[in-house]
Amino acid sequence: MNNRQNALLRTTYAVRMSHWLMVICFFFVAMSGLSWFFPSLNWLNSLLGGPQLARILHPFMGVVIFVLLTFMFIRLVRYNLPEANDLKWFADIGGVLKGEHNEELDTGKYNAGQKVLFWGIMGLITLLLISGVVIWRPWFAHLFEIPVIRIGLFVHALAGVLLMLLIIGHIYLAFWVKGSIDSMSSGYVSRKWARTHHPSWYRQVTGKKDAQ
Ligand code: HEM
Repeated sequence: MNNRQNALLRTTYAVRMSHWLMVICFFFVAMSGLSWFFPSLNWLNSLLGGPQLARILHPFMGVVIFVLLTFMFIRLVRYNLPEANDLKWFADIGGVLKGEHNEELDTGKYNAGQKVLFWGIMGLITLLLISGVVIWRPWFAHLFEIPVIRIGLFVHALAGVLLMLLIIGHIYLAFWVKGSIDSMSSGYVSRKWARTHHPSWYRQVTGKKDAQ
């Protein structure tokens, strides 16, 4: 997206910075997490400086991810609230996957699928933070009984794997919908992109009554 005059600002600088900083931390946290999950992937912890350093850095970087996502939550939650219109999107999921753009869906800033992803990410990161504190040695784990720590370990591993699967889907969709990456890199999208994928948001930001 080079022609900024004709483009629409979709994502502010602060949100973009939070997103990409969080992506870098997420990569390291996910890799070190996987290295403890599967013995065959042990070598992955060398990405964070070896087993000892990875063990120290993993929880701190996890907290950084939580803080950055909390900022994104505050900035984006109002666009991700469920609406009656979202049901139409789910009902037309076949058409959405075929890349048809059913005007009746009249999608706002984020579609129903993106909203599910948003709440999934926010829910899982909250579970990861809570369970992570419970199992965080040497700082907090001693405050909890062994059975609670066991539950914490289970929840942490489960939420971690689910979040990684969700993020793989998120990355796939970000590349699948051409123009989305611009939204998170330059911050701008073309008018055509906005009109095609998010007509209701397009009308809102351009003040136009119809989506022409
Ligand atoms: C290489 C990895 C990633 C890529 C390419 C990517 C791409 C994107 C893009 C293009 C958007 C904007 C979509 C739009 O404007 O319509 C977005 C939004 C977002 N991303 Fe990512 N992302 C990545 C990793 C992550 C990770 C690891 C997380 C969280 C753990 C994450 C959380 C989010 C959230 C919360 C939003 C806002 C969605 C909403 O408000 O509905 N992303 N991402």
